[in-house]
Amino acid sequence: MKIVIADKSHTVYADIICKTIEDAAQVRGTGIAKRQPTYIISKIENGNAVIALKDNKFAGFCYIESWSHGKFVANSGLIVHPDFRNQGLAKQIKTVIFEHSRTKFPNAKVFSITTGLAVMKMNSNLGYKPVTFSELTDDQSFWNGCQTCKNYDVLQRTEQKMCLCTGMLYDPSKKKGKESSNHKYDKKVWTRLKSIKQSRFLKKDKT
Ligand SMILES: CC(C)(COP(=O)(O)OP(=O)(O)OC[C@H]1O[C@@H](n2cnc3c(N)ncnc32)[C@H](O)[C@@H]1OP(=O)(O)O)[C@@H](O)C(=O)NCCC(=O)NCCS
Repeated sequence: MKIVIADKSHTVYADIICKTIEDAAQVRGTGIAKRQPTYIISKIENGNAVIALKDNKFAGFCYIESWSHGKFVANSGLIVHPDFRNQGLAKQIKTVIFEHSRTKFPNAKVFSITTGLAVMKMNSNLGYKPVTFSELTDDQSFWNGCQTCKNYDVLQRTEQKMCLCTGMLYDPSKKKGKESSNHKYDKKVWTRLKSIKQSRFLKKDKT
């Protein structure tokens, strides 16, 4: 498996990346924002994406977005093709994109909003902490990206204060203390939080 910072030679994968993201959103039935191939191409051309290939076959992808004039960055659009799941690939892609983000934007806070337990776990292992949305970027263009999510009405109803996604933040100015580095991801806690949010926020006619 080859995991690299994507360059122009990888723009040919933009369509399959978008299609794999769209298929995953339908299978999961939860919010994953749609992406257009032109957007993915711009990320690749600007050196802001990581791609995984196995014998030139698309295996996985993730990209960097920057907000609030570079004060925040997000590692978004994480996708692993179904043929390559459960082999630790997402973990490797997340590590590469996180390190790339830290090199390219050393002073930026790295954040994520997600409903995915796998992503919460990987973020926790990289040193992200759960935070309220008020701790994240207030750049409206970031939140506008949620408009294609099927749970967007929840975000609107709460005036962007909360949603089904959990906000997580890596703050480079906060050095890891012993206590925080020993704090382990607890799947039960995250699963409970997710089900509380779903019962609280989702309208009865949603599944
Ligand atoms: C989520 C996704 C990226 C995981 O990719 P993957 O390569 O199978 O993940 P990995 O094998 O690297 O697993 C990483 C960790 O997450 C855990 N994990 C993987 N899938 C999980 C799931 N569905 N629920 C809970 N934990 C999960 C793994 O056990 C592993 O934990 P470990 O470090 O203790 O071994 C992949 O399933 C995917 O592309 N899904 C559709 C798109 C998506 O949901 N993207 C995230 C948007 S928020």
